[in-house]
Amino acid sequence: QLHKYPHEISWHQDGPFGTFDRAQLQRGFQVYKEVCSACHGIKRVAFRNLQDIGFSEAEVKAIAKGYEVDTLDPATGEPAKRPAIPSDRFPPPFPNEIAARAANNNAYPPDLSLIVKARHDGLDYLHSLTTGYGKEPPKGWAVPEGLYYNPYFHSVNIAMPPPLVADDQVTYADGTKATIDQMSRDVSAFLHWAAEPELERRKQAGVITIVFLSILSLLAFLTYRRVWAGTA
Ligand code: HEM
Repeated sequence: QLHKYPHEISWHQDGPFGTFDRAQLQRGFQVYKEVCSACHGIKRVAFRNLQDIGFSEAEVKAIAKGYEVDTLDPATGEPAKRPAIPSDRFPPPFPNEIAARAANNNAYPPDLSLIVKARHDGLDYLHSLTTGYGKEPPKGWAVPEGLYYNPYFHSVNIAMPPPLVADDQVTYADGTKATIDQMSRDVSAFLHWAAEPELERRKQAGVITIVFLSILSLLAFLTYRRVWAGTA
């Protein structure tokens, strides 16, 4: 079989008590920004959301300033650009789908805001996909010009060039060694947060609910014993 299922990876945010590793999310953002954002948007994420993953207000302002968003010129009413502010969302890398396809061998790099939710085993898949290049295709398998062999992609030949190609492709601020595997894990975790920023609150609510229901069950049982005491 040509197509492969993703490898299962263990993540900090796994399990009923799992939380995101903030340092990992910040590294993942760096990978997204320096590598993936050349072709992929995260249009549902606002700059100020980055405060959730541990950036300060001043850092968020500075990050936003590095992007330009569409606006109308207040004097002429003509379309114009202005530097982004924290309440803006990340602008897309291409003005529209036609431009995006024109730059990518007619393939469309999808917005990554919800990709972890949109693909089966999204988080593991992202890791396998971004580390899944460079293997020899099986004998007789043709890879058309402009496509790349990646057995984790549903149609095996993918239009995305290998995005993570060398160790130290990014230089992490926290000194973590930027291996391909590390960058892939980090950017996958970041995109998981982008798709599911409420994950920690959701899990917490689950744990509180279980504790609450356990206490309630105990009380109900004791009440039952009391109400029926001596009637046997
Ligand atoms: C597709 C992730 C960097 C171009 C995709 C898909 C994902 C992804 C998850 C969807 C695969 C699917 O449909 O199942 C990433 C990540 C990147 C990255 C995490 C950074 C580490 C890039 C870059 C480019 C690019 C830099 C452009 C040079 C594309 C294209 C597609 C694609 C053209 C569509 C592929 C097809 O339909 O054949 N990418 N990408 N990606 N990406 Fe990327």
